[in-house]
Amino acid sequence: TTVTVSATASHPIPTTLWGQMFEDISSGDGGLYGELLQNRAFQQVTPGTSAALNAWSAVNRASISVVADSTPLSNALPNALRVQIPSGTTGQSGVANSGFFGIRVNSAWTYTASFFYRFPTASSFRGNAQVSLQASNGQVLGSATVALSGAQTSWTQVTVKITPTSSPSATNNLFVVSLDGAAASGQTINFGLFSLFPPTFKDRANGMRMDIAEALAEMQPSFFRFPGGNNLEGQTTATRWQWNNTVGPLTSRPGRVGDWGYINTDGLGLFEYLLWCEDVGMQPIMAVWDGFALGGTSVAEAAISPFVQQAIDQINFVIGDPTKSAPAALRSSLGHPAPFTLNHVEIGNEDFIGNSPSTVGYRWNHFATTLRSTFPQLRFLATSDLNSPVLSPQPQEWDLHVYQTPTWFAQNSFMYDGMARDGTLYFEGEYAAISTNPNDIFGSPADGRLTFPTVQSSVGEAAFMTGLERKLLVVLVVIICIPIHPGHHIGNSDIVFAASYAPLLNHVSNSQWTPNLVSFDSANVYRSTSFYVQKLFSLNRGDQYIPSTLPSQTGTLFWSVVSKQTNTIIIKVVNVATSAQTVTFRLPFSGIASTGTAQVLTGAATASNSPTTPNAVSPVTSSIEPASTFPYNAPANSLSVLTFGIN
Ligand code: AHR
Repeated sequence: TTVTVSATASHPIPTTLWGQMFEDISSGDGGLYGELLQNRAFQQVTPGTSAALNAWSAVNRASISVVADSTPLSNALPNALRVQIPSGTTGQSGVANSGFFGIRVNSAWTYTASFFYRFPTASSFRGNAQVSLQASNGQVLGSATVALSGAQTSWTQVTVKITPTSSPSATNNLFVVSLDGAAASGQTINFGLFSLFPPTFKDRANGMRMDIAEALAEMQPSFFRFPGGNNLEGQTTATRWQWNNTVGPLTSRPGRVGDWGYINTDGLGLFEYLLWCEDVGMQPIMAVWDGFALGGTSVAEAAISPFVQQAIDQINFVIGDPTKSAPAALRSSLGHPAPFTLNHVEIGNEDFIGNSPSTVGYRWNHFATTLRSTFPQLRFLATSDLNSPVLSPQPQEWDLHVYQTPTWFAQNSFMYDGMARDGTLYFEGEYAAISTNPNDIFGSPADGRLTFPTVQSSVGEAAFMTGLERKLLVVLVVIICIPIHPGHHIGNSDIVFAASYAPLLNHVSNSQWTPNLVSFDSANVYRSTSFYVQKLFSLNRGDQYIPSTLPSQTGTLFWSVVSKQTNTIIIKVVNVATSAQTVTFRLPFSGIASTGTAQVLTGAATASNSPTTPNAVSPVTSSIEPASTFPYNAPANSLSVLTFGIN
């Protein structure tokens, strides 16, 4: 194969092109969000049930139950954990939490532990609670004490620091709050809103788990889509994600029954998402709920106004003027008077699901019309099937999703080439090769569903991604010749402004969906082969696209050529075939550097990075010798990023 590269660029690469899609799908609570305790505040559970005690167990004769407290900690947190120490108890007695499928104990860290407590009936008890991290055999790995008083009948919060003395490799550790049984025998204590935090990314209070955050930041994403995905929608209107329930003190966050089979604490709330975006240098692509719940109910047109207002308030929380808007004043009171960056707002999610198309017409009309006139500086994305039904006002941007096979991705790298250049922009907001079985894409692993990305699936995605970079009609490539010039924009060539793999994260012990870009357990983070594809594209994105001979749509070799700061050429070559192939590049540039680098991701088609083989496949860098005509031998199943200077 010979590829002739143009001397001139055709269009700028959007600076937003590569980013991340996040929703809480076994990925927020117990994942990116740093809190280590599961069911820390008994949110949304039914008192008196064993389910209400999820992740909790009694220690040494204590009797525990979740109760609806007669004096609730807050309106949002009506439930408490009642701990009764029976008469005649000796030794430490109390309650333990097993975390999110384990708790990592690290002696290099100082943990911050806290809880609220009150004695429902005043007593003369005065004594210490031991707050500890314990191995499964009861060995105390680190502890602190805090004085409790039986006179304390109103809620009070206590906070301790724990620096463990050892770092066991096992993660089936427990967080334990206990009292000396002899001293506390016969006492009843109510507890609420426990918390255990390790150090967080950038030391943020209520922040992100460091190793997961570092992995995500390493990709240098330029945007972060949140909070869903399905998890925006709720199964019912009442259980939709509501921004105002996710901000402010943790005691004022009720949590919600999420869409992925578990209760969301909403500790990772709107403000935390926005700080996270700032900390990583990403812009949000934020969704607002648009009147459709995943269970199939739509808000009637006559009743929609309050929901549009809630979306306005959500946006004002992000960018509003604190002197003019109460939500913006709330943001300011939380320590961020300046508006956050916000350019794109997504209206709903997948408005092609179930019966949502039958109501999306009026829902879109109300949300888009009002939001566009209220925030003319923002752009709003539609999420229904492209023009089916036709929406009014016409969407400026669409979010399209595709879960398919590796082969589908390779064969659809021209998906955007034929789409109209009419000013409409596209966000490829969810895509992933998730199965090798085209007849059962969402089926089980036994039927071809992938548990982790494989080299084959990741390389298929890479082929597709070369098309997202290209996204220019052949005819335009021929007609338009623009010299390489940073910052130069032409007409409507940038039709794909953003793209993100989905889902982003999963806990390997509690997963609702596979495969994911990054997997983790209590102690480790597993960067998948698709993660490395995303990272290679993101870190080598260039600023101008340079046309070249087009690949065959049905072939097995794909490429894209970009330039960076006029003096660097970056060529991405994808070989989805199971044997190596040579591609010869013919370059029109003068002053081609005599050496460059090749970063190559390759491996056996079915190879995966997983907990058992975490580093099976990762990019390897070597040197190349570019020239005006130079052959490159692309290994089987590979993505290669070739970089060299020109002058
Ligand atoms: O990424 C998983 C799910 O796939 C998302 O929640 C939803 O938008 C899509 O159907």
